[in-house]
Amino acid sequence: MDMPAHDVLLVGGGAAGLRAAIAAAQAREGINIGVVSKVYPMRSHTVSAEGGTAAVLREYDNLDLHAYDTIKGSDFLADQDVVEAFVKEARDEIIQLEHWGCPWSRDPDGRVSVRAFGGMSVKRTLFAADKTGFHMLHALFQTSLKYDAITRYDEWFVTSLLIDDGKACGVAALNLRSGGIHAIPAKAVIICTGGGGRIFPFTTNAAIKTGDGMALAYRAGCPMKDMEFVQYHPTGLPGTGILMTEASRGEGGHLLNSEGERYLSEYVPGKMELGPRDILSRAFVHEMRAGRVFEGTYGNYVHLDLRHLGEKVINEKLPFVRELTRNYVGIDPVHEPIPVRPVVHYMMGGVHTDINGAMPIPGLFAAGEAACVSLNGANRLGSNSLSECLVFGARAGNLAAAYAAEAEPPRPGTLRNMARDEQNRIETKYLRPQNRSERIDDIRSEMQTAMEQGAGIYRTQGELKETCETLRKLKARYDTVGLDDRSGVFNTELIAALELGYMLDVAEAVAHSALHREESRGSHARSDFEMRNDEHYLQHSLAYRTEDGPRIDYLPATITRWQLEERKY
Ligand code: FUM
Repeated sequence: MDMPAHDVLLVGGGAAGLRAAIAAAQAREGINIGVVSKVYPMRSHTVSAEGGTAAVLREYDNLDLHAYDTIKGSDFLADQDVVEAFVKEARDEIIQLEHWGCPWSRDPDGRVSVRAFGGMSVKRTLFAADKTGFHMLHALFQTSLKYDAITRYDEWFVTSLLIDDGKACGVAALNLRSGGIHAIPAKAVIICTGGGGRIFPFTTNAAIKTGDGMALAYRAGCPMKDMEFVQYHPTGLPGTGILMTEASRGEGGHLLNSEGERYLSEYVPGKMELGPRDILSRAFVHEMRAGRVFEGTYGNYVHLDLRHLGEKVINEKLPFVRELTRNYVGIDPVHEPIPVRPVVHYMMGGVHTDINGAMPIPGLFAAGEAACVSLNGANRLGSNSLSECLVFGARAGNLAAAYAAEAEPPRPGTLRNMARDEQNRIETKYLRPQNRSERIDDIRSEMQTAMEQGAGIYRTQGELKETCETLRKLKARYDTVGLDDRSGVFNTELIAALELGYMLDVAEAVAHSALHREESRGSHARSDFEMRNDEHYLQHSLAYRTEDGPRIDYLPATITRWQLEERKY
């Protein structure tokens, strides 16, 4: 079946994808846009973002201060031209979202409320209680519905990017309802599929966050940038990994060790609970090594204590935290402290793009967590990511629309052949082989364990080498993975197998990039190279796919007005 050709095709229907789609729809009359998503857009992971989104809105704040906080938070690896563009455009995006119906929480005087967040010098995080992502995604989704130019492909799973004559010409995608593989033609493709936290065992990330777009671009020849930088959020629920938002600490919550002490006074006295996430996560490890943590069924934990905030504040500002802790751990934070531990939350790295979201391959673009536009460097500050989705989603949407206006339409015959080849590849690799013994779940669990052991909060050369070797063997085993379900309709086992393939690519890029970076910077803490080394590593890593595993190269970071300094809080 020939599908209609789009000017711009989004892969991913979360905040970045919908923002990009709206920008492209507004770019010119007659433009034709597609949004492909493996889930219904309101189930994208943006929906679970909690604490807020950052922008300079108050008189005591200014753009340079937001830029400085972001650059310092990044341990000076952020590209400073990108940061400057971001802080400037974030404010307009946030105000626009208000006009599109986002119900920001408000102060009694009617102004949009702001709260404190980790690593930010002043209160600049806007929020909608602690369900900010849910409300932002609603506002974006409803706005997207206004545009007839946008066609949605809900519950379609992209299996490969299609490249003709060195340029993007669409995607091959599996229609989950019918089971068929189709080529969806497009002059420009924007990847907005989020991160890949599911390569680790404990994560705040939804099960859908399997690094699909990162791996798709990597396979098409685009490098993944800064993949060694993986953010642990200091307060996830043990077991499920469910996020206990940083807003809990922004509103005044305390972290206590097993001796009842606010232990952060030893590690980040100037900021305490509002220190950046990398430093707080490492502090947990030190407390664990000192034996000052609790032991539980799902490992060690400390306490997040909100009791002193009182029921009224918790109900007004943190209702979701109360709901989640009641439902998932059976305690009420009004009366009891919450058990928490660091859990993987965010990937600073992603598909390598320029400041506008363009990848090195013509016609390919990316935005949001899937992309590495180099805003976050070695450590992202909490609440910058929702704003990032808006700013760089809009930039990518505009640029892709402009590119598509000049580009040749995809060639239908070529696309038909590509779809047939892709159908054949999927059937030959996954659906036809019988009696294969390798199981998806075994490989996935072993991958997650290897990532936690070798590429976790602290890393060493020996552990990283072991993880790289484990991943190499797992990739070989993956080639003979067996499926029980060979049906066409909603074959979720096939999807899990395809996702596992993406995750293995992403995991390898993380581990190899981490092995090559022989310094400590932001979230990348090497016990064998404890200092930051600006002479050699003030550079972004680029992981290129080769038959023998990732090849790592480097690209200098862009420094404009902010000079390097020791990162102290
Ligand atoms: O804790 C949080 O609410 C997370 C926010 C973020 O990652 O930006």
